[in-house]
Amino acid sequence: MRVLGIETSCDETAAAIVTENGEVISDVVHSQVSVHAPYGGVVPELASRDHMRNIRPVVYTALEKAGLQLSDIDGIAVTARPGLSGALLVGVQMAQGLAWALDKPLVGVDHLVGHLLAVFLKHPGLPPLEPQPAFPFVAMLASGGHTAIYSVQGPNIEQIQELGATRDDAAGEAYDKIAKLLGLGYPGGPIIDKLAKEGDPDAIELSKPMASKSSLEFSFSGLKTNVARWVEVNGRPGDDATLRNLCAAFQRRVVDTLVSKTLRAARTNGIARVVLGGGVAANSELRRRSVERGAKLGIEVVVPPFRSCTDNAAMIAYAGAQRLLAGHDDRGRLTISPHTSLPRVTKKGKGARLHPRTPRASVKAS
Ligand code: KG4
Ligand code: ZN
Repeated sequence: MRVLGIETSCDETAAAIVTENGEVISDVVHSQVSVHAPYGGVVPELASRDHMRNIRPVVYTALEKAGLQLSDIDGIAVTARPGLSGALLVGVQMAQGLAWALDKPLVGVDHLVGHLLAVFLKHPGLPPLEPQPAFPFVAMLASGGHTAIYSVQGPNIEQIQELGATRDDAAGEAYDKIAKLLGLGYPGGPIIDKLAKEGDPDAIELSKPMASKSSLEFSFSGLKTNVARWVEVNGRPGDDATLRNLCAAFQRRVVDTLVSKTLRAARTNGIARVVLGGGVAANSELRRRSVERGAKLGIEVVVPPFRSCTDNAAMIAYAGAQRLLAGHDDRGRLTISPHTSLPRVTKKGKGARLHPRTPRASVKAS
């Protein structure tokens, strides 16, 4: 089966053609980074407009690179949630138009499910992953919009369970905000990662970003405030050793909490395999330390290649192929949503909601 995947949920316009076994035939990503860089973050209206400009050329480039015609495609998969509404609509309208014109099945894909299954993608020219991915696994998904730990028993939404997520900022968002504060540019992750390599993580004392030591939830806003205070007191560092030490200290705190909570989740759930996903999984320290600490605990850590971690349409095509194989067809009833369809146990800003609250008895005035 050859599935055309389309992704426009945030700031990448992407299209790919992938088989149901995860073989990537073509994979095209048009990044909008330069459009949003002057603002230090994604501007939703600019994102929608840029997707409109690029969606058609990106889809046709994916077909051309695969050496295929539209008529060779067996089905279409498109990101329908979560994401920016205007941005999602561009991809969904394109996918719907193609599905009707070609009379081919169409499935909507949850972007987060795409990230969680991206580890199964096989890119031509890249060696097979070692250790090999297989179900079940615990996934750490850390990107600019999401940071959560999941138990993944299989490819279907009902087999994926959130174990804990961030109460406030996503890890990538924290990187981007700190980079903006330090005047480093956008996106902040790769810049801070590079500077941190040359710094001493113990030279500057910063708070540990723990929502609570025993829970699997995250909170990065305290650490962000901590860095902001440090800058208020000490001034913004120039391009010197202090800047590198500050980046190293920030990165050490973020990576420590991501690694220790993910490995704890694997241990407490009796799952000896961990998979990293999302843009922050490109972080060099996160990749290295999770493998090292996993090995000490007898937990295999599967680290996908960079291009599978950041936003792409190949993961959407692969996740969609699994839905198409199960006989789904969303033609005529595909709607978009800014929210994921994966049940949340952590609510932003409010902490855990593992057990629904008992409604208070209403008191009648007498
Ligand atoms: O998954 P992604 O490409 O897009 C979504 O947010 O869905 O992730 C982008 C995020 C940005 O916040 C970026 O700063 C972060 O991933 N990122 C990194 C690194 N490379 C990208 N964060 C830390 N270290 C990196 N090397
Ligand atoms: Zn993403």
